[in-house]
Amino acid sequence: MRVTIVGCGYVGEALARLLGAQAPCHLTLTTTREQRRAALEPLGDRVLVLKASDAPALKQALESADAAVFCMAPGGDRQVNAGVYAATYRDSITTLLALLPELPQLRQIIYTSSCGVYGDAAGGWMDECSPVLPRDAHAAVLVESEQLLVQARSDQRRVCVLRLGAIYGPGRDLNRRFQSLAGTTRPGDGQTHSNWIHRDDVAGAMAAALAGAWDETVNVVDDQPWRVADLLDRICTAAELPPVQWSGASPEVKPMADRRISNRRLRSLGYALLHPTLSGF
Ligand SMILES: NC(=O)c1ccc[n+]([C@@H]2O[C@H](COP(=O)([O-])OP(=O)(O)OC[C@H]3O[C@@H](n4cnc5c(N)ncnc54)[C@H](OP(=O)(O)O)[C@@H]3O)[C@@H](O)[C@H]2O)c1
Repeated sequence: MRVTIVGCGYVGEALARLLGAQAPCHLTLTTTREQRRAALEPLGDRVLVLKASDAPALKQALESADAAVFCMAPGGDRQVNAGVYAATYRDSITTLLALLPELPQLRQIIYTSSCGVYGDAAGGWMDECSPVLPRDAHAAVLVESEQLLVQARSDQRRVCVLRLGAIYGPGRDLNRRFQSLAGTTRPGDGQTHSNWIHRDDVAGAMAAALAGAWDETVNVVDDQPWRVADLLDRICTAAELPPVQWSGASPEVKPMADRRISNRRLRSLGYALLHPTLSGF
């Protein structure tokens, strides 16, 4: 199989490593930065430096691929505005759609979206049949990008949208991210649920989607949503740090959506999670 991974960052690189360790396949990897080339070259057959909204460059990346995995994201861990989001997701998908008539061999497209497309469920469960309800301009871009991408589906081409929970794993461990909150007082009551997925399960689900020719939208989260207060308590206790306090007052900004995301479809497709619940703290 010939696979192109567009956006070889945290999860794209993990997927490249996983595919490299499985059955032989020809891998094209992309980055937007020349300085990432050296790190990626050992993982693939070809490394291209491009933005996916650059049509000639994207065509070059995809022209011999049987499958493409789009896992681009703007700015690493930096917060970016909705315009940058649109340039990264919507403009890339629009460019892909325009190129498809020239890419008849491309039989499968996998795209990493986010559970952020769902609205609030007051702590209830949501699955892939639940309505999407973007709560801000960033989520609206993700919804629009998904809706554009599914136009690529045909009898000859499968489209799989993976809606990821919040990603953690090596280099993005929870202790480092949240220990700085120890001893602080946070707005609200901390009872909102958070939905997580380990990096290696994101890579595993993407590889399973490729191997299994998935052609649907699939939530990629682990088995156990965590209330934010419980998670921070666990982290602070394990590190012997003072707990986070909750003011009970309404958060100044719009509160996080409270929903528990179901992974039943992921499991029914046969994927066995490597990390069924948060670990490593
Ligand atoms: N992080 C989370 O908790 C989370 C939650 C839900 C969903 N997701 C989704 O998961 C996917 C992977 O996230 P990640 O954490 O692996 O992101 P990441 O580490 O920031 O990697 C993103 C990759 O996309 C590349 N890129 C940026 N802009 C691009 C563009 N315009 N065209 C093509 N490539 C571009 C980056 O290039 P460089 O190599 O030059 O940096 C990098 O290789 C994304 O689709 C993200 O939306 C993430």
